[in-house]
Amino acid sequence: MDIKDLIKSRRTIHQFKPEPEPDDAVIHSAIEHAVWAPNHYMTQPWRFYLLGDKSKNQICLLNAELVNEKQGERAAEIKFNRWQAIPGWLVLTCRTSDDEITMGEDYASCCCVAQNLMLVLWNAGIGMKWTTGAVIRTPAFYDIIKVNSETEEVVGLFWYGFPAEIPAADRKPLDQVLTHLP
Ligand SMILES: Cc1cc2nc3c(=O)[nH]c(=O)nc-3n(C[C@H](O)[C@H](O)[C@H](O)COP(=O)(O)O)c2cc1C
Repeated sequence: MDIKDLIKSRRTIHQFKPEPEPDDAVIHSAIEHAVWAPNHYMTQPWRFYLLGDKSKNQICLLNAELVNEKQGERAAEIKFNRWQAIPGWLVLTCRTSDDEITMGEDYASCCCVAQNLMLVLWNAGIGMKWTTGAVIRTPAFYDIIKVNSETEEVVGLFWYGFPAEIPAADRKPLDQVLTHLP
C-alpha cells in the first residue's frame, strides 16, 4: 500500500476474528522493522513481551478482579470473556532512566516504534489495539510479565489479530491544527 494510504487507513481494532491468530513469525518480523524508529542517543529502550496462553489468562483474571471491585461480578465476567477471546497479546515496555528528559525522549521513541509496528502489521492485514487501561499499571501486571517496574515502564498492551470490524474515524482539518508563522 502507498504509505499515505497505509497511514490513513490504519484503525484501532476493537473486534478481532477469533481465528486464525497471526503467526509469531509475522510479529517477529514486524518488530524487527518497527524498531527502525528515531531514537535520541540510540538508547534503544524498547522491550517486547509476546504473551502465551498462561500469561494472557493471568491478565484476564487480574483485570476481571479490578472490574469486579468497581462494577461488580456480572461486569467482570463479561470483561473476562471478551478479553479471553482476543487472539494476540503483546506488551511493549520502555527502559527507565533517572534523567527526566531521557525518559521522555525514550518514551517518545517507543511511541514511534508502536506506530511503526501497527503500520507494518496493518499492511499485512493485521489490526491492533493499543491499550493503557488501569491493569497495566498494577504491580501484579508487572509480576505476570516478569518485568521489574524500576527498570522498565509499560508503554502499552497491544492486542492484535485479523479485524472483524474496521471502525470509522476522522481527524481535524489542516486549518485547525496548522499555523504558519512569518
Ligand atoms: C497511548 C495510547 C493509549 C490508548 N489506549 C486505549 C485504551 O486504553 N482503550 C482504547 O479503546 N483505545 C486506546 N487507544 C486507541 C485510541 O482510542 C485510538 O487510537 C483513537 O480512538 C483513534 O483511532 P484510530 O487509532 O483508529 O485512528 C490508545 C491510543 C494511544 C496512542
